Amino acid sequence: MLKQTVLVTGGAGFIGRYSVKELLDNNFNVVVVDRKEKPQHLDCQYFQMDVTSHELAEIFKKNKIDYIIHLAALPSVADSIKMPLIDCRDNYQATVNVCTIAKLYNVKKIIFSSTAAVYANPQYLPVDEKHPVSFLSPYAITKSASEHFIQYSGLDYIIFRYANVYGAGQDTSGEAGVVAKFFALMSQGLPVKIHGNGIQYRDFINVKDVAKVNVIGLQSDIEGEIINVSTNTRTSINELFEVLKEETGYILAPEHTSSREGDIEKSVLSNNKLISLFNFVPSITLRSGIKEMVNGLH
Ligand SMILES: NC(=O)c1ccc[n+]([C@@H]2O[C@H](COP(=O)([O-])OP(=O)(O)OC[C@H]3O[C@@H](n4cnc5c(N)ncnc54)[C@H](O)[C@@H]3O)[C@@H](O)[C@H]2O)c1
Repeated sequence: MLKQTVLVTGGAGFIGRYSVKELLDNNFNVVVVDRKEKPQHLDCQYFQMDVTSHELAEIFKKNKIDYIIHLAALPSVADSIKMPLIDCRDNYQATVNVCTIAKLYNVKKIIFSSTAAVYANPQYLPVDEKHPVSFLSPYAITKSASEHFIQYSGLDYIIFRYANVYGAGQDTSGEAGVVAKFFALMSQGLPVKIHGNGIQYRDFINVKDVAKVNVIGLQSDIEGEIINVSTNTRTSINELFEVLKEETGYILAPEHTSSREGDIEKSVLSNNKLISLFNFVPSITLRSGIKEMVNGLH
């Protein structure tokens, strides 16, 4: 059978690289567009380009794109507060451009990477997909606007709202990954700062589970759905600190600093819909995911 081709926007990024690998393992042709230089070991066709550019259509002219996994974004709450116009371009404008061209070229389905940030400080926990959306940052606003544009675009879609994604190879320069940040500091024996008292909690999901969900979503007949991608497990930042401390052999105590604007107090996402629609249960525990990160150091 003819291989199906998937365009992965932001394919050089953290979730992108794992999604590309998962697609290749599942026998898809993969085309990546990202404005970064092509990373080594990314074994697919690669276009270094901004997804907001008109030239994006050239990729669709040259390749029959069957599906899209749209991951390109400015994935940082703090950056979105500092640079709302850039957030608007890389999150909303990018999505409008990708969807408009995808529609012209009859793409079969788009998978979109939305976020738990659209639930702000939830009214109830675990948050399900029926929970109203609300906004503490430009990032949450442009992700939500992107969701609406995708629904308006006429494309078949699945919108995944990811919880906090972590795993080996996550960029530590942004604020997107608290696991990656703590891990990098602890590996070097440097002090770790916890914003606030550390009892705020999150739902951490391993990037390999997220990549699997992206590909399962693309292969399934399900469309027109918004689905949380999470473990439905709450982990406080203090607990995260302890697990990382035990696994890395770190010896210092954390420094507590003031909490940050835009930060969500408590977040844990119901994954009932994910499990019932796809019969898939994210299986990588936080400790085993962190052990894998530690093993990667040796
Ligand atoms: N990491 C998380 O915890 C998390 C949680 C919820 C949602 N998400 C979403 O998942 C997606 C992927 O996140 P990630 O953690 O892999 O981020 P990442 O920063 O590692 O990857 C994003 C990639 O997109 C590229 N990119 C950004 N703007 C672009 C543009 N205009 N044109 C071309 N390329 C562009 C970047 O170069 C980068 O390689 C994002 O949409 C993010 O908002 C991530």
